Amino acid sequence: MSKNVLIMAGDGIGPEIMSQAEQILHFLNQDEGLGLEFDHAAVGGAAIDSDGVPLTDAALDQARAADAILFGAIGGPKWESLEMAIRPEKGLLRLRSELQLFGNLRPALLYPQLASASSLKAEKVSGLDILIVRELTGGIYFGQPRGVRMLENGERQGYNTYVYSESEIRRIGRVAFEAAMKRNKKLCSVDKANVLEVTELWREIITDLSQEYPQVELSHMYVDNAAMQLIREPKQFDVMVTGNMFGDILSDAAAMLTGSIGMLPSASLDQNNKGMYEPCHGSAPDIAGQGIANPLAMILSAAMMLRYSLGFGATAERIEQAVSRVLDQGYRTADIHTEGTNKVGTEEMGNAVLTALKSTH
Ligand code: IPM
Ligand code: MG
Repeated sequence: MSKNVLIMAGDGIGPEIMSQAEQILHFLNQDEGLGLEFDHAAVGGAAIDSDGVPLTDAALDQARAADAILFGAIGGPKWESLEMAIRPEKGLLRLRSELQLFGNLRPALLYPQLASASSLKAEKVSGLDILIVRELTGGIYFGQPRGVRMLENGERQGYNTYVYSESEIRRIGRVAFEAAMKRNKKLCSVDKANVLEVTELWREIITDLSQEYPQVELSHMYVDNAAMQLIREPKQFDVMVTGNMFGDILSDAAAMLTGSIGMLPSASLDQNNKGMYEPCHGSAPDIAGQGIANPLAMILSAAMMLRYSLGFGATAERIEQAVSRVLDQGYRTADIHTEGTNKVGTEEMGNAVLTALKSTH
């Protein structure tokens, strides 16, 4: 039975890195007879330019119908002055929300070859392997009411609402405990329970859930401390679970520990493991169009897609090994380049992965 993949390249470096991931998927599709079919749809600024909205209903329907979605990146200065409701980011947020992709997995894995590219000393990060489980369809990103209102004194006031229901906390908690069970059985839940009631409830529910997972060692950490600990002693963490906004921030910090945010893939899953796969980095408008962006996070996102939503774990591993191989060979895009390695552009890096794949079965 064939499986349908929807490709949404988006803006900035999105299309450049996506074409590298597509080239690899096309090769594997043939080489291994995966039976994948590909569709394309516009999203973000590209969709605003072509259709006036960051995600059309037709594209949303395509995403619903697909078995998995591969997503590039969205946003850029061109669309920053638009009103909030039709900004590129809304396309992404609508996809996450409409498809109920609440479980965001962001692995921060250090490739040993990149230890010297990390902003921390190599010994602090060697062997680093953290999984951040970020809640993706709730919290302050989606809470109502929200907006900018006029106060009686004529001053404007911006406001957002930080909300989590018990069931939302429980379902993301379950994703995190299950992930911890498959790893080193350590889970750190990150909140701000000393100040915010919503995360006081978060802590209570996660603690309650832990009774079902007695083998998992659960700890709790305030988000400010978690940010500090990530930079001080990152290897203390195995799985971290947190809400939408804290997860957004901590995952960027964790990404940098691995050398570059250009290396980090992510999966956003619904209750049935249908998912959307995207690099953790953004559209990087400052380097878009120059052919220098690192395509590896995008390529590794395609690998995660094969594993989690399409049932091709061995093929995913093949990609991951090919990536490791090109790093061994010394290929480095500008973001991970260090002295003595071979600096290459987006295409050269993609081609190197393809060549490495062709030499394996
Ligand atoms: C991310 C991004 C998005 C987010 C933006 C582009 C809306 O930063 O996926 O981390 O804040 O979730
Ligand atoms: Mg982010």
